[in-house]
Amino acid sequence: MSKQFDVVVIGGGPGGYIAAIRAAQLGMNVACIDEWKNSKGGPALGGTCTNVGCIPSKALLQSSEHFDHAKHHFTDHGITATEITMDVAKMVARKDAVVKQNNDGILYLLKKNKVSFFHGRGSFVAASEAGYHIKVAGAAEETLVGKQVIVATGSNARVLPGAPFDEELILSNDGALRVGAVPKKLGLIGSGVIGLEMGSVWRRLGSEVTILEGLPTFLGVVDEQIAKEAHKAFTKQGLKIELGVTVGEVKASKAGVSIAWTNAKGEAQTLEVDKLIVSIGRVPNTIGLNAEAVSLKLDERGAIVVDDLCKTNLPGVWAVGDVVRGPMLAHKAEEEGVAVAERIAGQHGHVNFNTVPWVIYTSPEIAWVGQTEQQLKVAGRAYKSGAFPFLANGRARALGDTTGMVKMLADATTDEILGVHIVGPMASELIAECVVAMEFRASSEDIARICHAHPSLSEATKEAALAVDKRTLNF
Ligand code: FAD
Ligand code: NAI
Repeated sequence: MSKQFDVVVIGGGPGGYIAAIRAAQLGMNVACIDEWKNSKGGPALGGTCTNVGCIPSKALLQSSEHFDHAKHHFTDHGITATEITMDVAKMVARKDAVVKQNNDGILYLLKKNKVSFFHGRGSFVAASEAGYHIKVAGAAEETLVGKQVIVATGSNARVLPGAPFDEELILSNDGALRVGAVPKKLGLIGSGVIGLEMGSVWRRLGSEVTILEGLPTFLGVVDEQIAKEAHKAFTKQGLKIELGVTVGEVKASKAGVSIAWTNAKGEAQTLEVDKLIVSIGRVPNTIGLNAEAVSLKLDERGAIVVDDLCKTNLPGVWAVGDVVRGPMLAHKAEEEGVAVAERIAGQHGHVNFNTVPWVIYTSPEIAWVGQTEQQLKVAGRAYKSGAFPFLANGRARALGDTTGMVKMLADATTDEILGVHIVGPMASELIAECVVAMEFRASSEDIARICHAHPSLSEATKEAALAVDKRTLNF
């Protein structure tokens, strides 16, 4: 006997579980299928984000930052701490506990919202007048029928040809979050978001870290001025970042991993490391979905083809999150999930891609929203720019962290804010004000006229807005 639902969501990551909750809130009878297993074989809701992404990486970044502070910065405050050591097993166990709290929290939320949860792999079987028939292969096998289906099956780490993940020596994000002891030498391929975050964790704990990046520019998607400042800070910390690299043969043996590579000048090099993290992007995941059974259309990258509203080529089938076009970010997946649930309910859900913030949780943090200066130049848009350094911010001085700046870009005529770019302390929190401002189509003068608490890092945002009009007060 198959079970009938108004909406069946395949995938319980941030895109899927949030879509399921919102659809249930709107009065629909909803099922959510997710196959992720914890170490005991039970459900582990939350997808990549909760299990091997956002949450565990931030837990390790926090632990390693405490260690770094204790080791290198406590003395600035008059604190003497001797014999500071890191118990890596304890750090990893704490991270696992944080993950479990989140897994359990999501299971609770599904129950609270009366979403029926099915643990197992969901795959399309057929379409009929009753809806789409989806088989769940788990401990038991059952068939669900959904009038509407939301696919939120996420993404997987991209494999470097010739260097498959063994998660012992050659690590994806999964293995990178389970390393049991500090590697003496750590290599990373790709100086994108994961490369910088994971490289920072192990560099702080004592690894000698080398990152090999294929592109000649560092963080090409980031505003150039901000990327330059970040590169300076990371290099000073001891991260070795090689740009314009071509990676050749990768050999894993008992002794570690040997990577043949060519530098930007074309000179042959070899890097010998204890472990190698490959972080060269992610690919959409439709493995096991049996998309062919219903002729669900995928593009050449394997992503599900959707329109601006997340509609697929099939009536009543939607797709959200990493498995479709757009940035691979948890909050983008969530916003699409909410919007799709609302559209199914006949409402007008909306996602503004121009105000999706990005954050890289390194130290200094990097955060931005809207357009970069180089994008505005290419578009031929006339703009004004203002920047304010944390060096001139009282709170940053008190914190002992004055690296970086807030930079604001505004339309030359209307003064509407077009982008804000931050490198510095707590950039992840500071960017929220800028997202709100852009969502409300504020001008730089609006921010400049708003009272900001003193002393706070947010005063740097206000001063950057004043700088757009060449009238900073504290610099
Ligand atoms: P996922 O989270 O991948 O969830 C998909 C779920 O579907 C999984 O549980 C999977 O098991 C399940 N599934 C797949 N196929 C099936 C099937 N056929 N049947 C049943 N279940 C299935 N983003 C941020 O915004 N901030 C961050 O700080 C951040 N940090 C990250 C750090 C790392 C190391 C990584 C790898 C990613 C990070 N991301 C971050 C990206 C973020 O994790 C993803 O954008 C987000 O998880 C995408 O959500 P999703 O719901 O689309 O997919
Ligand atoms: P990425 O796209 O951020 O960076 C990949 C890097 O690898 C790029 O700089 C690319 O030029 C380089 N590269 C690709 N192929 C290469 C090769 N063969 N040799 C050398 N360099 C190569 O991808 P990453 O870091 O794997 O992360 C995947 C995604 O996960 C991110 O794009 C982001 O969407 C998400 N994420 C988000 C985080 C956050 O929001 N804080 C944290 C971590 C991941």
